Amino acid sequence: MAETINVLFLASEAEPFVKVGGLADVAGSLPAALRNLSPKMTGGTLLDVRLVIPLHRVIQSESSTLLPVIEFPVYRRGGNLIAQVFERSLDGAPVYFVTGLPFLTATSVYSSDSRQDLEKFTFFSLAALELTRRMGWRPDIVHANDWHTALSLYALRSRRGDAFFAHSAGLITLHNLPFMGGEAGETLASYGLTPVNDETLPRWARTQPLPMGLWAADAIVPVSETYAREILTPEFGCGLQDFLRARADSITGILNGLDVRAWDPQNDKHLAAIFNADDLGGRLENKLALQKKMGLPADARVPLLAVVGRVDEQKGLDLILHALPRLADRPWQFVLLGTGDPKLEAAIRSLQARYPERVQAVLRYDSALSHLIYGGADMLLMPSRYEPCGLAQMIAMRYGCIPVVRATGGLKDTVQEGKTGFVFTRPDVDSLLEAIQRALSVYASAEKWRRFQRNAMKQDFSWTRSARQYALLYRSLVPETG
Ligand code: GLC
Repeated sequence: MAETINVLFLASEAEPFVKVGGLADVAGSLPAALRNLSPKMTGGTLLDVRLVIPLHRVIQSESSTLLPVIEFPVYRRGGNLIAQVFERSLDGAPVYFVTGLPFLTATSVYSSDSRQDLEKFTFFSLAALELTRRMGWRPDIVHANDWHTALSLYALRSRRGDAFFAHSAGLITLHNLPFMGGEAGETLASYGLTPVNDETLPRWARTQPLPMGLWAADAIVPVSETYAREILTPEFGCGLQDFLRARADSITGILNGLDVRAWDPQNDKHLAAIFNADDLGGRLENKLALQKKMGLPADARVPLLAVVGRVDEQKGLDLILHALPRLADRPWQFVLLGTGDPKLEAAIRSLQARYPERVQAVLRYDSALSHLIYGGADMLLMPSRYEPCGLAQMIAMRYGCIPVVRATGGLKDTVQEGKTGFVFTRPDVDSLLEAIQRALSVYASAEKWRRFQRNAMKQDFSWTRSARQYALLYRSLVPETG
């Protein structure tokens, strides 16, 4: 009989309930991909993966579909807090939503007030762990994601003497190392957690949630193989490179997959026309629809460049803003969809004011429009300074939109220069310009361009391979049972 591994999967956001960034795509699709692996692919193991996320205010508005499950106290100095847990099912598996006082006052998923977020996510991490005991469902693996849920692993390790968790192992997926949660000494103390007492972690890191979780984890999983190597260097290690190097044996890079049902150009209700690798005809209709929607001159021939995602330094948007004016003597159009840094948003608006016939930006999150951009734009620009995995370039390739990317993290692992996209190395305007120019000259030959599109669309970015890697890693962390 197949053995079952219980996996408690914790994240601060997950599609389709709440999304701020790529973490939500992963938390929304990996649990189902893991559950759906056949025991043949996992060496005879079944995975009972249960997702737990906070009941953020945006989810509460739909709370009529949520069933109350349980309430219990979470220790807090000066008076315990009550955790309330709700449930609903997604793809045939339960999803749990946790709330309590720290979430009732918060209006957004993440706040600019770091104290408020520390309070929320410390409470959440501890409550989610306690939930398993209250349900009598023993987790073999606690799978945390990023700083928000990292403290669950630290609490787990502090409770090794607790019979219920005696055989639970901890794994953390690392989506973004620079976000560590901040100095949390006071919040930790009020929830009964003490700082890490170990010299292998730099002193400043011993009271910050992410490093504490990394320290406590049995396995650390950066979201691409290249990012797994990069974080061991001073350039990307954010001061933790020496600690991470000492833990190199516990680090395994696993590339994120895509929800290939949600992203399928042959079956996408947001497109003006569907298409596939053998029949790209529909793309043209999408391009014209996109130009019309964005208020740009409808022109099938002009290369249409795009950016979809967070407007952030990390994404190298400033490089694009400097590069485009230098290409002003050639035809191109540029569309951008996303929100973020107000300074960069203002710079995008002024580029639009300077080239209204060429540049149009929509500065908000709009899922439907993102589909039309992937299905209609010719090139996706991603000159990221660092990119743990990146999802937009994978979606773009699936839709025949050719990525121009910097060789870092997951971008390096998913885009092949001269075959599926255009790749440059140095994070500067000249290197980006050269790569765009290479792309534009290939674009000039319809036949060559179609070859890129077909290559890109034939790549397999489904979860299957990566989910299997996670399953094998889970197995290696669970002691053999008789
Ligand atoms: C973060 C990273 C991005 C990654 C995503 C999901 O947003 O910046 O590179 O794709 O997490 O892992």
